Amino acid sequence: MGTTGVALQRFTELDEQQLDTRIQAARDALGDRLVILGHHYQREEVFRHADFTGDSLKLSRQAAQTNAEYIVFCGVHFMAEVADIMSSPEQISILPDLNAGCSMADMADLEKVEDVWQELSEVLDPDEKVTPVTYINSAADLKAFCGRHGGIVCTSTNAPRVLEWAFRQREKVLFFPDQHLGRNTGYNMGVPLEQMVVWDSTKPLGGLTRQQIREAKIILWNGFCSVHQMFRPEHIDQYKARYPEAKVISHPECCFEVCQKSDYVGSTEYILNTVSSAEAGSRWLVGTELNMVSRLKEQLEPKGVAVQFMSPMVCMCSTMFRIDPQHLLWTLENLVEDRVVNRIAVPEEEAAQARIALNRMFEVSA
Ligand code: 13P
Ligand code: SF4
Repeated sequence: MGTTGVALQRFTELDEQQLDTRIQAARDALGDRLVILGHHYQREEVFRHADFTGDSLKLSRQAAQTNAEYIVFCGVHFMAEVADIMSSPEQISILPDLNAGCSMADMADLEKVEDVWQELSEVLDPDEKVTPVTYINSAADLKAFCGRHGGIVCTSTNAPRVLEWAFRQREKVLFFPDQHLGRNTGYNMGVPLEQMVVWDSTKPLGGLTRQQIREAKIILWNGFCSVHQMFRPEHIDQYKARYPEAKVISHPECCFEVCQKSDYVGSTEYILNTVSSAEAGSRWLVGTELNMVSRLKEQLEPKGVAVQFMSPMVCMCSTMFRIDPQHLLWTLENLVEDRVVNRIAVPEEEAAQARIALNRMFEVSA
């Protein structure tokens, strides 16, 4: 990486102030040609340089709306792919560090999903009975699969509306890769737990009986976010025992028991808005990624709102953390010299099919 153009090694010895100044100078030089999108989980030294911040839905809308020539996505790989898919062919989507993936997104791949579709056809006609729904945390080829098979994409914000849409099309849903978002959303819509089965792709027919498949409303992929599995129901019990008046707010990637014990459940943007508008004197236990919770804590404690991270362990999203100011500066200074590094480009045929599934999502959640 970075053997041509401005070498990445040159940035490793700069201090925070120097990095800040040069990032700002590069942004000034690029002007309207550049937009920087920053997810809430980004570290502060990167987050403060974003033109727009948000959750996956908000940032994908920004990517679809901007006219900037370069979209530098401070987030993870699937987000930069969505930016490429939703922007025009002349626009360039960039991920400052190509190692910034999402371990949950990697838990489902096209080959395995196609195998499941094939296996399901031993019991029912999936193209007649099953709507495939992929969480936006997935590779572009899985979004394309959904586009081809009458399916749709969802985010943590619009999952309930997307599932309602999905059930209006066909009687069942295959939901991947995050079993927790699928289960938490389905349950809140009134789907009983017994009608949400987990497909184990290491076993024939996912380890399910034909009857279980016929009776299921939602077939869940067995993926999960390892960061959000660090939050446990006992953390809520312990905190509530000490502070019974505290409010608990969690991301829907947390397990069912944590979401059931939470007062509020929603996307990162929802968590930000809810806790930021809380009354002085209130106390919040927050179940989502550490960088975001630390930022909330810093901003709100001077206003008299107490914010506590849910887990006693330090659990950050290590892939989001890959985007550091050094990589951001390296990316921007190369752009100033008209060199594009770390471009994310989805092949056009795949992008066209993925766009169908993404546009269905935008229509449903408008
Ligand atoms: P949001 O869309 O809520 O920001 O979630 C993205 C994500 O990866 C959470 O782990
Ligand atoms: Fe993926 Fe989890 Fe990181 Fe979100 S927090 S980007 S789901 S690994």
